[in-house]
Amino acid sequence: MKKTKILMYVLAMVLTLSLAACGSKQNAESESTGASGGDSQKEYLVGTDASYAPFESMTADNQFVGFDMEIVQAIADKGGFKIKLINTPWEGIFATLNSGDRDIIISAVTITEERLKEYDFSDPYFDAKQSIAVPKTSSVQKFDDLKDKVVGVQTGTTGDEVVTKLLGADSGNIKRLETTPLALKELENGGVDAVVADNGVVNNYVKNNSDKGFKTVDDASFAKESYGLVTKKGNKELLDKINAGLKAIKEDGTYDTIYQKYFGE
Ligand code: ARG
Repeated sequence: MKKTKILMYVLAMVLTLSLAACGSKQNAESESTGASGGDSQKEYLVGTDASYAPFESMTADNQFVGFDMEIVQAIADKGGFKIKLINTPWEGIFATLNSGDRDIIISAVTITEERLKEYDFSDPYFDAKQSIAVPKTSSVQKFDDLKDKVVGVQTGTTGDEVVTKLLGADSGNIKRLETTPLALKELENGGVDAVVADNGVVNNYVKNNSDKGFKTVDDASFAKESYGLVTKKGNKELLDKINAGLKAIKEDGTYDTIYQKYFGE
């Protein structure tokens, strides 16, 4: 009787210990997944200047909407990482990568030689070029016609670059605004004769504000631009995940579905 009791006790101990060992093994396993793939738990902070419809904007109830917003979420889903979107002013948006305040920027950012010197870009995900918004009554027919006009741009954009090139760096006729909607407001108010910005944004604005009587003017001299997601220089691990996700959504049709939603007829 006594022996049986001891045996039961020993058995119970063995069972308890082996269960405990199992438990700790599981913990160790999940911890090591956490450390190596690590980043399955980590939430990457994504900066965007959400004033650039149809690529990124905020709804009345503060939700991020737009082509870029759906693309970056799809990339994260397929690339196996988590993201959090943060509305970030365009001015200084790239510097937030180096300060560690943001891990990724998606903001209809054109890949340029200048920017490539300081930051890394994903593979291109969208083609764009500059376009001109003018009142329907305007005589402007080509980019060159803006030479003696007052032109609105968003500071530090590729639109700013081309207009600065045409009018000259010290031209008093360039109105630089913090956001593109502010530049378009200037156009409405007659404060500028034209606005130069990315074609997708200009087209979207002219189409959705037909009551305001604007038209777009395109010019063959505008260079082809490509958008990319931006990361801090040297963050290869993250860039690889982004490019893998982008490749996956291009291959499985997700990219096309999102593209059709925003730019299909
Ligand atoms: N594609 C242009 C550039 O990279 C304009 C981008 C502006 N984006 C924005 N969300 N405000 O300079």
